[in-house]
Amino acid sequence: MTDRDTQKRQAAERALTYVEDGKIVGVGTGSTVKFFIEGLGRMRDRIAGAVSSSEQSTALLQQHGIEVFDLNAVGPLTLYVDGADECDPQRRLIKGGGAALTREKIIAAASARFVCVVDPAKCVDVLGAFALPVEVIPMARSHVARALAAFGGQPVWRDGVVTDNGNWILDVHGLRITDPVGLEREINQIVGVVSVGLFAARPADVVIAGDRVLG
Ligand code: 5RP
Repeated sequence: MTDRDTQKRQAAERALTYVEDGKIVGVGTGSTVKFFIEGLGRMRDRIAGAVSSSEQSTALLQQHGIEVFDLNAVGPLTLYVDGADECDPQRRLIKGGGAALTREKIIAAASARFVCVVDPAKCVDVLGAFALPVEVIPMARSHVARALAAFGGQPVWRDGVVTDNGNWILDVHGLRITDPVGLEREINQIVGVVSVGLFAARPADVVIAGDRVLG
């Protein structure tokens, strides 16, 4: 296991301490969350199940014997645990490296507490070194790319990737995001955008970076 994997596992194990008995847990997507799902599997008899942010996590959860519920059937959640691609000191995030940003954002919005698990290399002062993912309706790809270019970044189509919702991803390179809440709001206004991987209006409540807890 690499050092980064060890730090991801440390963060995921710490996040297990936020899980309450008898509850349904919101579960994100990615390699850090994979460690969290392994831990949830060990305590599966203590939880009521999970709401999943991707087909990939659904399959993993089921492999660990955890029942997966539709968010519509179970209402608001007490806890959502997910990874991130970048995190700033205000716990605002870039997410979507795994193309699951829209479902992740929905579950984060429907959860009272969002615990984000990362390895410390993801912690930055200003967001934007990681290209910002934007999920778009396929027919709007060029239109949205032109609108995104006006913010000063270079949008690149993640060719060959189709999201679980049947949409496409544009990754915007070269941004220095000094106003994450404002940029999230502006990108949300572009017709054809399904969601943007900036989690700033609703940041994480707690970030666990390896063995360090922020917030
Ligand atoms: C998926 C995500 C992931 O949380 C993000 O890409 C981090 O993944 P990893 O834990 O594998 O580094 O946003 O859409």
